[in-house]
Amino acid sequence: MMTKKTILTGDRPTGKLHIGHYLGSLKNRVALQNSGEYNTYVMIADMQALTDNARNPEKIRNSLIQVALDYLAVGIDPAKSTILVQSQIPALNELTMYYLDLVTVSRLERNPTVKAEIKQKNFDQSIPAGFLVYPVSQTADITAFKADTIPVGDDQEPMMEQAREIVRTFNNTYNTDILVEPKGYFPPKGQGRLPGLDGNAKMSKSLNNAIYLADSADELRSKVMSMYTDPNHIHVDDPGQVEGNMVFTYLDVFDPDKKKVAELKAQYQHGGLGDVKIKRYLNEVLEAEFGPIRQRREAYAKDIPAVYEMLQAGSAKANEVAEQTLQEVRDAIGLNYFKA
Ligand code: TRP
Repeated sequence: MMTKKTILTGDRPTGKLHIGHYLGSLKNRVALQNSGEYNTYVMIADMQALTDNARNPEKIRNSLIQVALDYLAVGIDPAKSTILVQSQIPALNELTMYYLDLVTVSRLERNPTVKAEIKQKNFDQSIPAGFLVYPVSQTADITAFKADTIPVGDDQEPMMEQAREIVRTFNNTYNTDILVEPKGYFPPKGQGRLPGLDGNAKMSKSLNNAIYLADSADELRSKVMSMYTDPNHIHVDDPGQVEGNMVFTYLDVFDPDKKKVAELKAQYQHGGLGDVKIKRYLNEVLEAEFGPIRQRREAYAKDIPAVYEMLQAGSAKANEVAEQTLQEVRDAIGLNYFKA
């Protein structure tokens, strides 16, 4: 029998997930899960979320259930994937502690994603120590499950690199091969990042330019109607720009009917196609994709205790796997003084 490959991926619970998350990662995960070729673990990384929200644990607590609902709604299926909560797996912290001894502070400070986040969050001289080392904790998340395939957005490549370094250093230092080097699994080039409603390169909660999986049909419609198009396209008969026009950017991504999109673009560029009309069409396209997701989300939200039970069961199962890896790690280092 061929041994299956193993997936581990996750999200920080700092809010509801949006359609950018869906495009950049969730969609991939569901496809991989359904391929049957992987053992799949999906982690809600609440400890990582706390690294810059330690004084606001309520936010993390509330977001945890929102993210779990988003997962279930898009089709992450607890019968096929183990959904777990990071803070409920104690072995991860001990692994992190051992790995921290194998990285230098200057290496941590060089991680480009962390660097960008430090700037964006205005930490300046007061970077929480836990924040700086979260890539090491993320390496613990990945290696605890011996995951080799990590479906994530492009911004996570530096984390994968750092994880591979730690794995190699660990295996070399303790003369073992128990840890597995992970590889990122990224969306096809150019398809990973969905810009915001306002045309900003990134869709995000803090920029207030996101469509959430949880948005109602009305919210979705009014957001689509507010989208950034071509500011010079004032009269219906004016020729319009499709480049940088969010309506067409989104149609390119979400409309399966590519021929129709090409025709609409031609008409818009020529003049005679109004923004309201094209936005109504985009709304239909998005509703076709996200309407069923919203309905599933609403159904799951009716029984929150069942969602917590699912998370508890997933965490218990994950805990056994992580404990096993931890024992191997302790053995490799030689911290097994009391073993016969
Ligand atoms: N850092 C990831 C993000 O911000 C979330 C995450 C935490 C993760 N642990 C992980 C991703 C382990 C992959 C594997 O999106």
